[in-house]
Amino acid sequence: MAYVSLTLEVAVKQNEALQDALHALKTTGLEVRDGSALPMPGQQQPKKGAALIVAYFENRPQATKAWKAVQQAFPQVKGALEKVEDRDWSTEWRSRIRPVQVGRLWVGPPWEKANAPKGKTQLIIEPKMAFGTGDHPTTSLCLAAVDDFMKAHPKASVLDVGTGSGVLAFAAKKLGAGKVVGTDNDPLSIELAHENAEVNGIEGVALSTQTLGQVKGTFDLVLANILANTLVMLSPLIALKVKKHLVLAGVLVPQREEVEAAFVAQGLKPAGHVVQGEWVRLDFEAGK
Ligand SMILES: C[S@@+](CC[C@H](N)C(=O)[O-])C[C@H]1O[C@@H](n2cnc3c(N)ncnc32)[C@H](O)[C@@H]1O
Repeated sequence: MAYVSLTLEVAVKQNEALQDALHALKTTGLEVRDGSALPMPGQQQPKKGAALIVAYFENRPQATKAWKAVQQAFPQVKGALEKVEDRDWSTEWRSRIRPVQVGRLWVGPPWEKANAPKGKTQLIIEPKMAFGTGDHPTTSLCLAAVDDFMKAHPKASVLDVGTGSGVLAFAAKKLGAGKVVGTDNDPLSIELAHENAEVNGIEGVALSTQTLGQVKGTFDLVLANILANTLVMLSPLIALKVKKHLVLAGVLVPQREEVEAAFVAQGLKPAGHVVQGEWVRLDFEAGK
């Protein structure tokens, strides 16, 4: 089977934002060459201060559509489309997924399970087409918040908006949460989250494509790791769901004030923020 690759050269500081955009454009896999790994013989390498991202698509129309969207959002990025014959790209990008340890949690792919340290709460996430293997800074920032909140509020109720692989919802459940709901507007993510629940023997997490308007009740902890513009758009609906604490991620450092203002306007009180690389997590308390 042949695939179409879209190779993009991008300034290192935009690397992660572009990767997120490519995930949203339904790439089937990404390869990132940013000088942090030894170059493979014969492989094109990025210029100094730049990264090369190779995004794979199942066919040329999908790749062309993605390239047009990238050109609009990142006009300075250079790119090229190319047909790729029968290459085992899937195992290539999957094999780069690294396990993470955050607080009491260990999150990793199935083939790393044997190396997981004893005494950690384990979560196995098979890297597939849903976001949330644990090793992205936005996910690990949220995992730390889940660990902290569950320590202080055992049996808390949790809503995970944009659950992706289900990683945050499952982490909360494994750390003792009571009612847990995970929603995503992508049906494939929900399908894969169900698979991950089964692999981890997790029961009692309600996963669905329900909109926030359809989700009933309020939750002690609300998590939303989605991009800044979506968070701002959803701010009135997200705010209505918060009983105690809200955690937002998917926000780039320069976007923090805009996102914070949107949630303050909904009556939430800022309760600190944590930066990891170019990403920031924002915490809020319910305003009552
Ligand atoms: C960055 S991923 C986060 C996945 C996981 N929660 C994590 O922390 O790793 C964002 C997820 O939000 C979903 N999403 C995007 N817009 C959404 C919306 N308006 N409503 C619900 N989910 C949305 C995407 O499909 C994606 O699975």
